[in-house]
Amino acid sequence: MEIPLVKRQNKLLIIKGVKQIMNKKLLTLLLTAGLAVIFVATGLYAGTDVPDTITMDYNQYKKRTKKPPKTKFIVFTHMKHNVEYKISCGDCHHDADNKPLNDLKIGDDVQKCVECHTKMAKPKKKKGEKKAKKDIMVLETAMHGNCIDCHKEVNIKAGDPKGKKGPAPASCTKCHLKAKK
Ligand code: HEC
Ligand code: HEC
Ligand code: HEC
Ligand code: HEC
Repeated sequence: MEIPLVKRQNKLLIIKGVKQIMNKKLLTLLLTAGLAVIFVATGLYAGTDVPDTITMDYNQYKKRTKKPPKTKFIVFTHMKHNVEYKISCGDCHHDADNKPLNDLKIGDDVQKCVECHTKMAKPKKKKGEKKAKKDIMVLETAMHGNCIDCHKEVNIKAGDPKGKKGPAPASCTKCHLKAKK
C-alpha cells in the first residue's frame, strides 16, 4: 500500500528527530564519559605524582607560627633530595608500622605524613615534668625528626661535631626563612 506523501514526510521527520536526540544523547554520554576519565586520572594523580618541590603550607595546625607574612613557607626540594642527594624513598616514607617503604617507586600511591601524624599541637608540659613529653605523632615533631635528624648527621659527617653548621640546614632560621620586608 502506498503511504501518502504527508505521512511519509512525518515519518521521515520522526526518524530524523529520533536520530538527532540519539546524537545529542550520544554526545552528552561521550562528554560525561570523557570528563569522568579526566577526573579519574587526576584523582589518581593526587597521591602518585612525585612532586619536584613541595610547598609546606599545611594549614591544619591548631596555631601556626612559621607562616607568612613573617616567615616563608618551606619549599622542600623533594626530587633533588632523591636524585641529587641520593636519599631513597624509604629513608623518608614508611608504613603504619614505621617500616621503611624501600620498594617505593615513582607512580606508587603514597600517603602524606599528615594522614598518620595527625596531631596538630605539641603536648604541653605537665606539672613535675622538666620538659614536655615528645609525641612523634605530632606533625611538627615528625617533620623535625625526619628533616633535622638527617641534616645533623650530614653536617657531622661534613666536620661539625654538633651537626648544627654545614651544608644541610639545621637551625630554625635556615629552614624557616624570614620573609623579606
Ligand atoms: C628526604 C625525604 C623524602 C624522600 C627521599 C622522598 N620523599 Fe616523597 N615526600 C616527602 C615528604 C616530606 C612529602 C610530603 C608529604 C606531606 O605533604 O605530608 C612527600 C610527598 C610525596 C608524594 C606526594 C604525596 C601526596 O599525596 O601528595 C609522593 C607521591 C612521594 N612523596 C613519593 C616519593 C617517592 C616515589 C620517592 C622516591 C623516589 C620519594 N617520595 C622520596 C619526603 C621524601
Ligand atoms: C601510614 C602511617 C604513617 C605515615 C604515612 C607516616 N608515618 Fe611516620 N610514623 C608512623 C608511625 C606509626 C610511627 C611510629 C610511632 C611510634 O614509634 O610510636 C612513625 C614514626 C615516625 C618517625 C620517628 C622515627 C623513628 O624511628 O624514631 C618520624 C621521624 C616520622 N614518622 C616521620 C614521618 C614523615 C616525615 C612522614 C611523611 C614523609 C611520615 N612519617 C609518614 C606512621 C606513619
Ligand atoms: C636522609 C637525609 C635527609 C632528609 C631526611 C632530609 N634532608 Fe634536606 N638535605 C639533605 C642533604 C644531604 C642536603 C644537601 C646538603 C648539601 O648541600 O650537600 C639537604 C639540603 C636541604 C636544604 C637546602 C638545599 C635545598 O635543596 O633546598 C633544605 C632547605 C632541606 N634539605 C630541607 C629539608 C626538609 C624540609 C626535609 C624534611 C621534609 C629534609 N630536608 C629532609 C638530607 C636530608
Ligand atoms: C630542616 C628544616 C627545619 C629546621 C632546621 C626547623 N624546622 Fe620547623 N618545620 C620544618 C618542617 C618541614 C615543618 C613542617 C612543615 C611546616 O609546617 O612548615 C616545620 C614545622 C614547624 C612548626 C609548626 C608549624 C608552625 O607554623 O607553627 C614550628 C612551630 C616550627 N617548625 C618551629 C621550628 C623551630 C623553633 C626550629 C628551631 C629550633 C625549627 N622549626 C627548625 C622544618 C624545619
